[in-house]
Amino acid sequence: MLILGIETSCDDTGISIIRVSEKKRPIFEILSNVVSSQIKTHAPFGGVVPNLAAREHLKNIEPCLKTALKEANVKMAEVDLIAVTYGPGLIPSLLIGVHFAKALAYKFKKPIIGINHIEAHIAAAFCSENSKFSPAIALVVSGGHTQLVLVKKIGDYKIIGETRDDAAGECFDKVAKLLNLGYPGGPKISEEAKKLKTKNHGLILPRPMISHKNYDFSFSGLKTAVLYLAQENRDKIKDEKFIQELCYETQQAIIDVLVSKTINAAKEYRAKTIILAGGVAANKELREQLAAAVKKIPDSLFLIPEFKLCTDNGAMIAITAYYNQKRIKPSNWKTIRADANLRLS
Ligand code: KG4
Ligand code: ZN
Repeated sequence: MLILGIETSCDDTGISIIRVSEKKRPIFEILSNVVSSQIKTHAPFGGVVPNLAAREHLKNIEPCLKTALKEANVKMAEVDLIAVTYGPGLIPSLLIGVHFAKALAYKFKKPIIGINHIEAHIAAAFCSENSKFSPAIALVVSGGHTQLVLVKKIGDYKIIGETRDDAAGECFDKVAKLLNLGYPGGPKISEEAKKLKTKNHGLILPRPMISHKNYDFSFSGLKTAVLYLAQENRDKIKDEKFIQELCYETQQAIIDVLVSKTINAAKEYRAKTIILAGGVAANKELREQLAAAVKKIPDSLFLIPEFKLCTDNGAMIAITAYYNQKRIKPSNWKTIRADANLRLS
């Protein structure tokens, strides 16, 4: 089965063709996974500007499709199913992908399936393994979301906690903007943190809500705490070591909260699998520290997508479509609508 996956929920235009063969369990072959990044467009603003993102998607989506088909050596006529992100996300961005997918479905008379972006981040982990899967706790951390999700089975989700303000990725991005490090902030902060030679510096940032007996998060105060530290130490703001220390401490504060809440949730819900997903899952320290914490829970499995499947891409949309078309009947082009506030259920 050949699936075309289309992703335009934020600032990456992602188009992928995957082949799924059904053996004892599905085997996913990613034939192409083209991602056109808009980093240069949004970098001067330190974050994504929705209308600029839509304009770039419009410009890039057709060339991305052509490249994806060429790399996969597949013709549109051979595609069995079109899958497109229909939410959550920025509405101007979502509309471009959804309307493009609808036009393709109409023109080539193909079934179409709408995919929840958060579910797709989680499903990107399944294609590596799903043997001990249920129940799972998924930590979904991206630029727009920070959620802990109880996954009873594919298609059965319960959000057990989420951020009350900024997402973890947004916190990385805003701190990087504050320190003039560029966009996207996550990779910039972790690069600076890595350069720090001695870890016993004097800077201490809060670990927001770490001891609250729930699974919610709050990261906006952390960004403000960095702002105050930067203001108090104006004389050091050009000092390389000071920036490295601030980045190290910001990254570690975010990781401490994410790891602690995820492990508590995994224990309470007796999770057999812990999944780390979303763009922030590309953070090496987070991957390593969460993996080490999961190791201490007997008989638990840690699943994490490959690096290229962590940030937004079309392959994760196509993979999710494979699972969903087994329980939800694909529709025709008329019924899919973009929904900026789509929730997992
Ligand atoms: O999932 P994603 O590609 O897009 C959204 O759905 O938001 O995630 C993008 C977010 C950005 O906030 C970016 O700073 C963050 O993922 N990110 C990272 C890293 N790579 C990307 N955060 C921390 N460390 C990284 N290495
Ligand atoms: Zn995402």
